[in-house]
Amino acid sequence: MEDNFKLGTEVDLKESLTTKWQAPSNIALVKYWGKHGVQLPANPSISFTLDACRTITSVHARKGSHSFSIRYEGVEKPEFAPKIKAYFERISSYCPWINNYYFEIDTQNTFPHSSGIASSASSMAALSACVMDFESTLTGNALDYHKMSFLARLGSGSACRSLQGEAVLWGEHNDTDGSSNLYGIDQSELLHPVFQHFQDTILLVDKGEKVVSSTVGHDLMNNHAYARARFEQAHENLTTLKKALKAGDLKTFIKITESEALTLHAMMMTSHPYFILMKPNTLSIIEEIWAFRKNTDVPVCFTLDAGANVHMLYPSEHKMSVDQLIHNKLAKYCQNSHYICDQIGTGAKKC
Ligand code: PMV
Repeated sequence: MEDNFKLGTEVDLKESLTTKWQAPSNIALVKYWGKHGVQLPANPSISFTLDACRTITSVHARKGSHSFSIRYEGVEKPEFAPKIKAYFERISSYCPWINNYYFEIDTQNTFPHSSGIASSASSMAALSACVMDFESTLTGNALDYHKMSFLARLGSGSACRSLQGEAVLWGEHNDTDGSSNLYGIDQSELLHPVFQHFQDTILLVDKGEKVVSSTVGHDLMNNHAYARARFEQAHENLTTLKKALKAGDLKTFIKITESEALTLHAMMMTSHPYFILMKPNTLSIIEEIWAFRKNTDVPVCFTLDAGANVHMLYPSEHKMSVDQLIHNKLAKYCQNSHYICDQIGTGAKKC
């Protein structure tokens, strides 16, 4: 299967190439946690693509022996180099032409670097979009979004869900035709109108670096006492959630989304070594959201990444009342009262 992504055609090497793409972050509803082989997921996942939280990457490629430079907001960032080096090594058998180019990579995020929001999904997606744009120029073939997602996955698993579509499913799933462990597939057509412009307000409880890298976290699922049950549950939750997305069934959407977030953290609390990534303020926010939902019937729920920040998900028609809740009760739990207002987006775009 992987071999399908090996370049079959000759390329016409050009002296230089330039492109610029932006790609968003994404927020998983059914979580990917656990992997094997070369970035293959232990269970299928689905996410909403975000809009405002993006990485913008421009790449200039010059013919010559392969190497690269990496700048973030105009400043050389040698600490980013190992991840990009590993990425180029992983993709080189699929895009052998990269060995004939020196790449100058310039990148920036629309969200603060130190916000506790992982930029690996958006950055690996943006870089893969640039690589595939070059490949399309060199081969004369149309842009291949499946290969773009395939390459992004080799950089960072969840990045493969940041390329195309408002909702993206990644990982083999019996109830989803065309699903693959190798790349994400666009599931936008699933979404009931209630999910149009769906909001994600990210409450920044802790802006620090991640306590547990996702590489370490995924690894902890090997030999985890509950791993097998968790992976099975993810398949079932995905089937149920897809039905809820289609029917606009917010009650089920909320039940599955919140349960998935807590399960992700439960897996970390029950691994060896064990971690608690939520902070007291994370729990205070969750309690406030539950109380607000009970008192107002506003269908707002939370999800979590592998950290303390809280993503609040809700239909756009309730933006005003949720804004008030944040202003009156939740902002005080955020570091420097900071939060980011985002919503569902459509994926990577050429700038
Ligand atoms: O793509 P990675 O290896 O950083 O893993 C991301 C894992 C979670 O964000 C916790 C869940 C997910 O599905 O995005």
